[in-house]
Amino acid sequence: MTAQRPILLVAACALVDADGRVLLAQRPEGKALAGLWEFPGGKVETGESPEETVVRELKEELGIVTREPCLAPLTFASHAYENFHLLMPLFVCRKFEGTPRSLEGQQLKWVRARAMRDYPMPPADEPLIPFLIDLL
Ligand code: C5P
Repeated sequence: MTAQRPILLVAACALVDADGRVLLAQRPEGKALAGLWEFPGGKVETGESPEETVVRELKEELGIVTREPCLAPLTFASHAYENFHLLMPLFVCRKFEGTPRSLEGQQLKWVRARAMRDYPMPPADEPLIPFLIDLL
């Protein structure tokens, strides 16, 4: 039998700008997987839908405002980390108000989908890159 791991539900978002670039955020020092580049997002809190999580996290982390109808489901990550199994829906958002800025000390970078392989990502995020290359 395989080890029992709790499922962790994290919702993430590929923000896409007018040039078709995707925003990556670098996980800050002190966090798990520090230094790796990821799609903005975070844990789905009790009582929240994944869409509500993304809207909240984009506001908290980047200071931008979007709405649930502006989030299109693209794909998901399913990855066994040592202590939990990550299930992570990935939404695409092209419509938002404001300019993303770093509110939690993270580096931000707008990156072409084809250049995303140059940015080391958490193992759960890497398999999502081809979906963005296809889309963009
Ligand atoms: O961001 P946060 O630390 O709350 O996420 C919980 C865990 O989910 C991280 O420690 C990481 O293992 C995983 N994660 C991930 N890719 C992301 C976001 C989170 O693998 N884009």
